[in-house]
Amino acid sequence: PLVSMRELLDHAAANHYGIPAFNVNNLEQVQAVMSAADEVGAPVILQASAGARKYAGEHFIKHLIAAASEAYPHIPLVMHQDHGTSPAICEGALKLGFGSVMMDGSLREDGKTPADFDYNVRVTREVVDMAHKIGATVEGELGCLGNLETGEAGEEDGVGAEGKLSHDQLLTDPEEAAQFVKATQLDALAIAIGTSHGAYKFSRPPTGDILAISRVKEIHARIPNTHLVMHGSSSVPQELLALINQYGGKMKETYGVPVSEIQEAIKYGVRKINIDTDIRLAMTGAVRKFLAENPDKFDMREWMKPARAAAQAICKQRYLEFGCEGQG
Ligand code: G3H
Ligand code: 13P
Ligand code: NA
Ligand code: ZN
Repeated sequence: PLVSMRELLDHAAANHYGIPAFNVNNLEQVQAVMSAADEVGAPVILQASAGARKYAGEHFIKHLIAAASEAYPHIPLVMHQDHGTSPAICEGALKLGFGSVMMDGSLREDGKTPADFDYNVRVTREVVDMAHKIGATVEGELGCLGNLETGEAGEEDGVGAEGKLSHDQLLTDPEEAAQFVKATQLDALAIAIGTSHGAYKFSRPPTGDILAISRVKEIHARIPNTHLVMHGSSSVPQELLALINQYGGKMKETYGVPVSEIQEAIKYGVRKINIDTDIRLAMTGAVRKFLAENPDKFDMREWMKPARAAAQAICKQRYLEFGCEGQG
């Protein structure tokens, strides 16, 4: 059934695991996540970005997720709006039936300009007030995602700050986080620790100076009862990059967030781990391989099938790695 995200995160905290929140844009991605969760008995968070709502349309997203809930009535499932850039956008999602919304007030309404603390508190508090009245959950964000070496948000055409970010903006301050949680009363806090959206996160395998898991620990020590969220948490498996490039792709050298680092963060309050890119890589690799090996095929279902299977495999792997087995 559709459940509140707060309920799932409270359960994850009580039982020391983390839940991958998968971005979905179409039927096959929704099916992949659900069948992976079903295989291992995991709870599910499906989330729709602004890009997903633009691509599929909010009604299609809503009803794809509703269909998932109908097809798998035994799986606890959250319909979450990812990166809402204004209270009005979050209000729209809540009215449409989303049980959880992210008010990302780390950036102004344009989704590009870093916002100040007071603005962030004001818009997040506004969404908390409207969501809590109807039992919905709110995720907020303090600090801006981006690469600690370059100061860049990374995502070419998507979500993220424009221009260079300072070290201070790129790492969530524990004391400010405590003030933010107190002032907004949100349910889950996304923090900035050096990750960024998309495939191009790190130019080398990340070490502590560019992926600040130590910062997770400091924040958790200050606000132990707050559920923490990691964005930009795809691991960008090297074998998927190699597969894509083997079959005609031209992806550059890049590194993601190692699963072992996420597992460490789960010990320190991280309960929701956002993953989009890994699914994209898995599906792209599978489609490239299938079409290269079967140049005569043209039935979309034939190439979507291996893509869906590849997405399912990576989702299952993350459920197991984050400790979700049997928790759904
Ligand atoms: O929020 C970040 C996700 O990776 C979504 O990206 O806007 O391209 O769907 P998108
Ligand atoms: P990735 O690009 O690392 O998958 O992150 C997705 C995300 O944070 C969505 O909000
Ligand atoms: Na989110
Ligand atoms: Zn994100």
